[in-house]
Parts: sequence; structure tokens; C-alpha cells
Amino acid sequence: MHNLLYKMYKILAIESSCDETSAAILSKTAKGLVPLAHVVASQISLHKKTAGVVPEVAARAHIRKIGPVVRKALADAGLKLSDIDYLAVTAGPGLVPSLLVGTEYAKGLAYASGKKLIAENHMLGHLYSAFLQAPNLPLPSMNLIVSGGHTYLIFLEHKGKFKIIGQTVDDAAGEAFDKVAKMLKLPYPGGPEVSRQAEHGKTDFNFPRPMLHAKNYDFSFAGLKTAVLYKIKNDRLDIGNVQTRADLCFSFQNAAVDVLIQKTIRAAKQYGVRAITLSGGVAANKKLRKDLALAAKKAGCQFFVPDFSLCTDNALMIANAAAIRLETGRYRFPKLEKIKVDPNLPLK
Ligand code: KG4
Ligand code: ZN
Repeated sequence: MHNLLYKMYKILAIESSCDETSAAILSKTAKGLVPLAHVVASQISLHKKTAGVVPEVAARAHIRKIGPVVRKALADAGLKLSDIDYLAVTAGPGLVPSLLVGTEYAKGLAYASGKKLIAENHMLGHLYSAFLQAPNLPLPSMNLIVSGGHTYLIFLEHKGKFKIIGQTVDDAAGEAFDKVAKMLKLPYPGGPEVSRQAEHGKTDFNFPRPMLHAKNYDFSFAGLKTAVLYKIKNDRLDIGNVQTRADLCFSFQNAAVDVLIQKTIRAAKQYGVRAITLSGGVAANKKLRKDLALAAKKAGCQFFVPDFSLCTDNALMIANAAAIRLETGRYRFPKLEKIKVDPNLPLK
């Protein structure tokens, strides 16, 4: 068992849960956690051909990239593997073939070097990512995590103690952006393209705000996506028309962002938090960032959203989550053969 609150150490983390191969080195110093290296190899161009991630294709790319990415992280930090104290790797949630590449590689490093390996939860990485740039963010906080696979509203009492108070009952927020993009025949990755098109929207079709008035903090985006589809079909809209497409993106984004913000603010007020954070890939959405920042200020809360490179999948957030895990709990390192990937690893 380890409790490392006062010790200095270095963590090498690996992330390969979906379509980014990433490695990072984080150092615990007297001044706090300092990033020494951060390398991300994106597969976006590869998945453009299939307009989405094919798990086996992603895994093969991870296999090609993982060695060079880890070696570059060590070289960038001017370190050797023997200088590292702990290894960490994303064990889930994510795509099994992708997760397997990272975990098996990390286990290999651990066997070869004798270093201890932390099996980390990808969503915990997103949750704690705000602390990388805002280590003194006031707590408790309300945290909206919006990615391609998950949508969570999490109340964080203090590091190591949190409660999921809302999540999606069907599609994740990013998934809905991606599906609307596909419907409109926009290129992969869909989310950024929908938000780009939305900037030119003029007419708002006033799509429904699913579950906005429900008493809980859960979200639903499948109905909203279907409303876009029915609008196109029933009104015989021409999605080849540039303005029609922009209006559909504009209307969809307005509805999705509206629900995310209203629920987050309501939860923030009910839980009496001091700060609101936004993370996950959809946190790159300009409207969501801007409107949530304004709404948080109005609600008297500090607002923080990490830089774009720390919102999308990356290993630095995994190193950070592992460091927080080590420092806040008495972590029991599992035996290497016991570390298994879990595509649905629960957040707890
Ligand atoms: O967190 P992330 O990089 O990967 C997962 O863990 O899923 O999130 C990726 C998601 C994708 O669905 C992508 O379309 C969405 O984030 N996304 C956006 C924007 N940029 C990325 N969605 C809306 N607006 C954006 N600007
Ligand atoms: Zn993610």
C-alpha cells in the first residue's frame, strides 16, 4: 500500500483507449505536479477514410505508434525508463482492441523494469484534468464531462471523493454531434465540423430540449438526433444546400448546449459548489465553452476548462489521475497478471 503525499516521484503514463496513442511523464516536485513530456499521435487522418473509428484499424495503428511515442516522451524529458518511479495506463473504458495495446505494452514495461503499474480509469483522467492547469481550483466543484462515449455530471467534494449525479440515458453528447454530422454527410470527425457549420446558421428550428425539465440530472441526446432526422424528412429539406445544413447544425447545437448548460447550472446551485469545470472532447465546442463560462459567472462560480489538447484524449490526464489516486488513497497495486482491460470500466 502506498500513500505518497509528501514524496517526490515521476510517473510515465500511456493512453490508447480510442484513437489517440499518447504517452506523458509527470513529475511530483516540491512545487506540485509538473509535466515533463507529453506526446500524442492522432489517428484522425486514418479514420477519415471510414468516416469513423474501426476498432481493429485503430489497434493496428496503436501497435505501430506506441513504441515510438513512449520513447519520444522519455527523450523529450531527457529521462531513461530507470528514472521513472511509477507506470500508469488506461485500462478502460474504451475500445477493447485499443485498450489492449496500451495495457499489454505497459505491462511489458513493468515486467522488464520492475516498476509498479497503476491501472487507471479514462474518465477519471477527464474529471481531474482541470487540476493540471488549475491546481488550486476551489472545491467542491460541479464537473461536466462530455466526450464521444460518455456524458457525466459529477459532484467533486474533494480529490478522491466524488459522486456521479447525472449521465446520458442513451447517446453521449459527442456521439450525437457525430451522428448528426453523418446525417448531413459532413466529414469525420463530425463534432468539430457541426460546430464550424453552426457558426453560419441563421434560422433556429427550435429542436426539443430532451429531459430539460426532468427532476434528475440525466441527459438524453438520441431524441434530439431523431428530431433533426424528422425535420429533414418531414420538411423535405435539401441537405446539399449550404445554408440549410448550417441552420440544422446551428439548431442542433443550440438545443444540445442549452440542455448541458441548464442542467449543469441547476446542479451547481443545488450542490452549492464554488467552481464548475468542463472537460472531454466536446469541451472543444466554442459555444459550449463560452456560454457555460458566462452562466457559471452569473451563478457566482469559478469556471475552468482545460486547453484543447488536455480536453481530447491524452496521457497527461492519465498520469495526473494516477498521481491523485496515489496521493489521496492507499493504493493497492494489482499483480500485473490481474490487470485486465474493461471497455465499460465503471467510474468509482
Ligand atoms: O474525449 P474525446 O476526445 O474522446 C472520447 O473519449 O470519446 O471526445 C471525442 C468527441 C467526438 O465525439 C467529437 O466529435 C467531439 O468530441 N468533439 C466535438 C468538438 N470537438 C470534438 N463536439 C462538438 N464540438 C466540437 N468542437
Ligand atoms: Zn476521452
